[in-house]
Amino acid sequence: MSKVELVKIVKPLINWYQKEKRDLPWRRTEDPYKIWISEIMLQQTRVEAVKEYYKRFIKEIPTLESLADIDEDKLLKLWEGLGYYSRARNLKKCAQEIIKNNMKTLPGDYNSLKSLPGIGPYAAGAIGSIAFHLKTPAIDGNVMRVMSRIHEDARELNLKVRQEYYQRLQEIMPNNTRDFTESLMELGALICLPNGSPLCNKCPLSFLCQSYHHHTMQNFPTKTKEKERKIVEKTILIFEYKGKYGIQKRSDSGLLASMYEFYAIDQKLNLEEIINKLSLKKDEIKILGSAKHIFSHLEWHMEGYLIKCKEAPNLSLMWATKEEIKNKYSIPNAYLKYIKKLF
Ligand code: ADE
Repeated sequence: MSKVELVKIVKPLINWYQKEKRDLPWRRTEDPYKIWISEIMLQQTRVEAVKEYYKRFIKEIPTLESLADIDEDKLLKLWEGLGYYSRARNLKKCAQEIIKNNMKTLPGDYNSLKSLPGIGPYAAGAIGSIAFHLKTPAIDGNVMRVMSRIHEDARELNLKVRQEYYQRLQEIMPNNTRDFTESLMELGALICLPNGSPLCNKCPLSFLCQSYHHHTMQNFPTKTKEKERKIVEKTILIFEYKGKYGIQKRSDSGLLASMYEFYAIDQKLNLEEIINKLSLKKDEIKILGSAKHIFSHLEWHMEGYLIKCKEAPNLSLMWATKEEIKNKYSIPNAYLKYIKKLF
């Protein structure tokens, strides 16, 4: 790792940001509530995907009070497609906790922010520096990449390195904490790109970037080995009866908690096994084909079937119309292929 006078990045970085920044909806507000919602959405989702979700969320749930009272099905429906659904449930828990503590908005100090449900070091740093002018850097993947390239830092980007970057950035943080935090992320998103070539000829920090000087940008950050995902085989049975579809609510904890899904068996069964297990008739069943969904830590490998029942199956299912599935119940993206096929 090379020594760099990091304080020299502050002025050129903020000047660049003020000229080049994207006009994003959450950059037009100073409301800590709205900034919090945006940062939670942005934590695991791309800017382009977040934009419309953010606008709809703020329109439907404009205040902390309305979030604390929101019906969980409605909340999950607003989050449908964004993934990592515990983020949405934690938002509601967090709003309830703030109100229970007789506070009107999020607390304006780092440790209190970090103690709330769903707010980790990254979000606390981002909300603190963007909404409350605190010198609390927000270290996300973009910022880690920028820092590792500036310093030619070959270490694996683990917690220790993250804490070290936090300290270094805190030491040089100017009073304009908001622009500083956003400028680092913006540089990572627009210039210091992760895949392909970074746009070093447009970079305001190339004058001190060690990996630019040695032309080693592609080597940083050091790649970490991806963990292997567990594969879960599933049989998805979509029951149709009198124009409605059978759905069930998932458990209120764990993966995709409290969302709705079609009848699913955690095992791959062939047609004959399905017929025998559920006492069905062959002519009721239509093969919908296979689908795969990748979560961060596991993969679902699915085989789907539509079962047009003449009699209601002896299973505890709720019956929902296409309209209800579209507008009311939150169905995980994993089922998108089957939904597209049917509706
Ligand atoms: N990624 C995370 N936070 C962001 C923000 N405030 N603006 C743009 N991208 C982001």
